[in-house]
Amino acid sequence: MSQATAIIDSKDLTKRYGNFTAVDKLTLTIREGEIFGLLGPNGAGKTTTILMLLGLTEPTSGILKVCGYDPLREAIKVKRTVGYLPERVGFYEDLTAKQNLDYTAALNGLNYAEAEKKIDEVLETVGLKPKADQLLSQFSLGMKQRLGIADVMIKNPKVAIFDEPTSGIDPEGVEQILSIILGMAKRKMSVILSSHQLHHVQRVCSRVGIMAKGHLVAEDSIENLGKATLGEGKFRIEVQTSPITEKVIQAIKHIKGVASVEAIDNILKISSESDVRNQIARAIIDNDSLATGMKIEEYNLEKIYLKYVKEQ
Ligand SMILES: Nc1ncnc2c1ncn2[C@@H]1O[C@H](COP(=O)(O)OP(=O)(O)O)[C@@H](O)[C@H]1O
Ligand SMILES: [Mg+2]
Repeated sequence: MSQATAIIDSKDLTKRYGNFTAVDKLTLTIREGEIFGLLGPNGAGKTTTILMLLGLTEPTSGILKVCGYDPLREAIKVKRTVGYLPERVGFYEDLTAKQNLDYTAALNGLNYAEAEKKIDEVLETVGLKPKADQLLSQFSLGMKQRLGIADVMIKNPKVAIFDEPTSGIDPEGVEQILSIILGMAKRKMSVILSSHQLHHVQRVCSRVGIMAKGHLVAEDSIENLGKATLGEGKFRIEVQTSPITEKVIQAIKHIKGVASVEAIDNILKISSESDVRNQIARAIIDNDSLATGMKIEEYNLEKIYLKYVKEQ
């Protein structure tokens, strides 16, 4: 299959509960090999979307294909190809990590030898091999979540869907989970990750979709969303300058990396690809003007996200 193969293809996908619309006309394509982040505040419709992808809840209307299959009519095929880690992992607390995975391996039809090999491999991948024989009741939430990822990997899914995998996890646990997810993508697995925690998503996702009140309000790479929100250039630099002359503006425009310069009252608004504050200060002085204040901001998903969510 080529890089461009769609693993998720939806058009106008809608879910209503009574007269409340939880997901409204979602049109989305996710391609093979992507780590796609489904972002949005609580109640945005992320879990409802995931449940429809899995065929666990029926869409009210719209078209949906998952790896080319209809999740409702071809439920078994979808279940074979897609792994799912729900928001709250349900393991048997009085069994060990390995015993819990034994259960999943049996459900997936692996024989004893296959199961032993696979369980060993997935526990290694998530860094829980030394804890294989420890009871789940002694596991931290982060360890349970990593075991949840191991559990998903037992059946070698083409696509793994994780619903809020880092929610409530301590920073060290978050690091471990994100690095496992990156490792899965390296092994050509596609990952869909839902989260309201932007800084986690920003670290691992190649593309994100931002949901708010059931709508997909933006869908792109973080870089492109940044450009669309904050203009060309990764940095926004504002310089209080007096006087602002054409000479000063031209000198700044000629600095390498500067994308645009705009003068508003006594402030120069500059966007640039790199942090060029020193060069700007130099250009202002060299052209007989004075900079009395300067601030810089780098775009991040937080700003993009707030912008889109607030507009709803
Ligand atoms: N079974 C249900 N019945 C009625 N309303 C529901 C049901 N499931 C979810 N909702 C509502 O749909 C909206 C989206 O929920 P959800 O998909 O869980 O959001 P998210 O995962 O983004 O937090 C929420 O307002 C929620 O209360
Ligand atoms: Mg949810």
